[in-house]
Amino acid sequence: MADLSATPTAATAYDAVARKLHWSIAALILVAFGLGLTVDVFPHSWEYAVVETHKVVGIAILVLVLARLGWRLTHRPPKMPDGPAILALAARIGHVALYLVMLIVPIIGLVYAVRRGQGFDFGLFAVPAFQAAEPRAATRPIREWHEWAAYALIALACLHALAAFGNHFVRTDDPLRRMLPEAPRRSL
Ligand code: HEM
Ligand code: HEM
Repeated sequence: MADLSATPTAATAYDAVARKLHWSIAALILVAFGLGLTVDVFPHSWEYAVVETHKVVGIAILVLVLARLGWRLTHRPPKMPDGPAILALAARIGHVALYLVMLIVPIIGLVYAVRRGQGFDFGLFAVPAFQAAEPRAATRPIREWHEWAAYALIALACLHALAAFGNHFVRTDDPLRRMLPEAPRRSL
């Protein structure tokens, strides 16, 4: 089994599984973050639906990130584009940090929901609460960690996207293509 620092393959782009997981997780993170921040903006009667949707999207993110880590630990990444070793190291540290925060945010959210005595409504079926709600004073710090970890995730993702776009416009080997579908080859 390979690890996160595995020797790259000769391929120049991530395969379809890695690309689909990358973009679906990125989109779901934006949805979860948006819903988490705007719960109070919706009419009060919508609150249940918004929070439950937020929780279901968050759980989907957790499952997809675990699948992605599974893919990552059993596959070798495409070979790094040529460039300064320090940039490759920064990218690797950034990716490991993103994986960690992508796991930490939904796990803290789950702990918060369970300790607030909430169940989980998946639409077709529901999972009842595991315990009675603990007092808000006891769970408030968990909610704050969840919120701050979510901000850290978005900040890291923005830096990461800026680096990807920066490379796209500055460098000729175009690392952004590593996460985009291969352009179809035209036959003559
Ligand atoms: C990457 C995934 C997630 C992101 C980015 C995220 C983000 C957020 C944000 C920004 C808030 C607002 C915090 C506040 O105003 O105090 C929030 C609240 C919350 N989150 Fe998450 N969250 C995620 C996953 C989860 C998961 C998996 C659960 C539980 C299954 C969850 C449960 C909650 C709950 C219960 C609240 C409080 C909602 C309310 O009643 O106002 N979150 N989340
Ligand atoms: C919430 C948003 C995002 C998250 C959490 C995220 C996370 C990640 C992670 C963890 C990797 C490492 C893949 C691996 O080796 O296993 C990665 C790679 C990559 N991401 Fe993102 N990403 C996000 C958004 C974006 C955006 C908006 C762009 C484009 C502008 C982008 C472009 C790339 C590229 C080009 C790679 C390949 C980098 C390389 O191997 O050199 N990502 N992303």
